[in-house]
Amino acid sequence: MTVSNVSSTPPSLWWRSGAIYQIYPRSFQDSDGDGVGDLEGIIARLDYVADLGVDAIWISPVFPSPMADFGYDVSDYVAIDPMFGSLATFDRVVSEAHRRGLKVILDYVPNHTSDRHPWFIESRSSRDNPKRDWYVWRDAKPDGAAPTNWVSEFGGGAWSWDAPTAQFYYHAFLREQPDLNWRNPEVVAAMHDVLRFWLARGVDGFRVDAVHHLIEDADLTDDPPNPLWREGMAPARRFLRLHSMDRPEVHDAIAGMRAVVDEYGGDRLLIGEAYLPLDRLVLYYGGDLKGFHLPFNFHLITTPWNPTAITALVDAYEAKLPHGAWPNWVLGNHDRSRLASRIGDDQARVAAMLLLTLRGTPTLYQGDEIGMGDVPIPADRIQDPWEKNVPGLGLGRDPVRTPMQWDASDNAGFSSAEPWLPLSRDFAEVNVAAQSAAPGSILSLYRALLALRRAEPALSLGDYAPLIATEEVLAYERRFGPRRLLIVLNLTGRPARIEAPHSRVLLSTGSRRLGEEIAGTMAIAPNEGFIAEFAP
Ligand code: GLC
Ligand code: MG
Repeated sequence: MTVSNVSSTPPSLWWRSGAIYQIYPRSFQDSDGDGVGDLEGIIARLDYVADLGVDAIWISPVFPSPMADFGYDVSDYVAIDPMFGSLATFDRVVSEAHRRGLKVILDYVPNHTSDRHPWFIESRSSRDNPKRDWYVWRDAKPDGAAPTNWVSEFGGGAWSWDAPTAQFYYHAFLREQPDLNWRNPEVVAAMHDVLRFWLARGVDGFRVDAVHHLIEDADLTDDPPNPLWREGMAPARRFLRLHSMDRPEVHDAIAGMRAVVDEYGGDRLLIGEAYLPLDRLVLYYGGDLKGFHLPFNFHLITTPWNPTAITALVDAYEAKLPHGAWPNWVLGNHDRSRLASRIGDDQARVAAMLLLTLRGTPTLYQGDEIGMGDVPIPADRIQDPWEKNVPGLGLGRDPVRTPMQWDASDNAGFSSAEPWLPLSRDFAEVNVAAQSAAPGSILSLYRALLALRRAEPALSLGDYAPLIATEEVLAYERRFGPRRLLIVLNLTGRPARIEAPHSRVLLSTGSRRLGEEIAGTMAIAPNEGFIAEFAP
């Protein structure tokens, strides 16, 4: 069947039709037996990633780092940490990925460096050092207190006192992660050169870390208290961060990054990480869409898992998207509780179908495709500084960063040594090898969904229209030219009934027969999802 050119969708770029797969390198594949994943390990698993059917890998930071925040504390932006490999290995990651048709997206951490970065070492060396103003230094208040009440994301005050130079420096995260001063043009230029360094090496884009933190209020105004904060919530939520986050100036800084990326050709991709309400988030596409191509949309992670809430979210998001902006959806990452633990194994399958059939670029987190869950971490194995600083509230991210489960052999095929984080006890069953051999596995479902998405422009590029939202079932249509697909998802463990349009089943999360004709009142099994083509 030929698809005529009647869709309202703009011409396709790879990242519009493609799916992105996040690799957390410390936990993907270890090749050198130190219990920590590395770049050779990624290369060894590229066939797996390509076979899965995704189009790009995003690799969390692999730059030299003291690892206070596991790579998100960078001490050299233009090198590779020896723990992960070398620049030569990295070049092979790019060429081997490209050879398999996979794009490579790097993590870019512009908000802060490590406190061991030479820039910060210089900056803190004296008040008149030329790099002093590269970071955010301020005097104490007359009574000796910190300049504002701002709280670090990881707990504690966001200002640390530097006794030798008798000033505070600002850090939105750990004290080992001092914030760069993006109001300083030298910082901007240096950080743009970082982008150019990797673009010239052939990377296809960046995921920009914690970008809503990039610039703070210059007047150093206190944040007001958050009336909804309760004991047990993250300390940083104690205040409404009106002055310390998501400042209007950030958009100029993003436009600057985007201009650099655009120097290298039209299909490089810039993604922004910002946890914000939809109204604020969509501003990150930038004026004239000259900001992020994709400001990560994390709202599926936090929206209640029911048809009414999800259809309302999709409608709100679609309605707020600026004209010409491309949507995207995320179900998990290295910072958030895993999908299978949030909504259960059965719904994780339905969620896979949702993620891969909504309009917009999907991002998958490693391990979600085999249904990995959060792994309990014994106290003596805790690594995440957030858990160490603010223990017992469930804020720690180690449970979602445990090693990828490749097979049933020692250490799940991840490493020949004891991994840096404990393995899940279920790895003998929940692993890539076992699931590859099982047609009914969640991995097989992901592969089938990604293959169908690739074959059907209606799924990757087509228009979206909501159809049904009952207590149990969410249904919608994707359309590209004359091609119309129906997606039906039971978001509960209860049986349900819907009125279905006349259509024929293409793919099912469960046992519904492919090719089955459906029409009219029909029963939907608990936890069932399917995709059907409308009868012509
Ligand atoms: C982002 C990262 C997170 C990191 C933080 C500080 O939120 O995803 O892992 O700890 O920024 O860089
Ligand atoms: Mg290693």
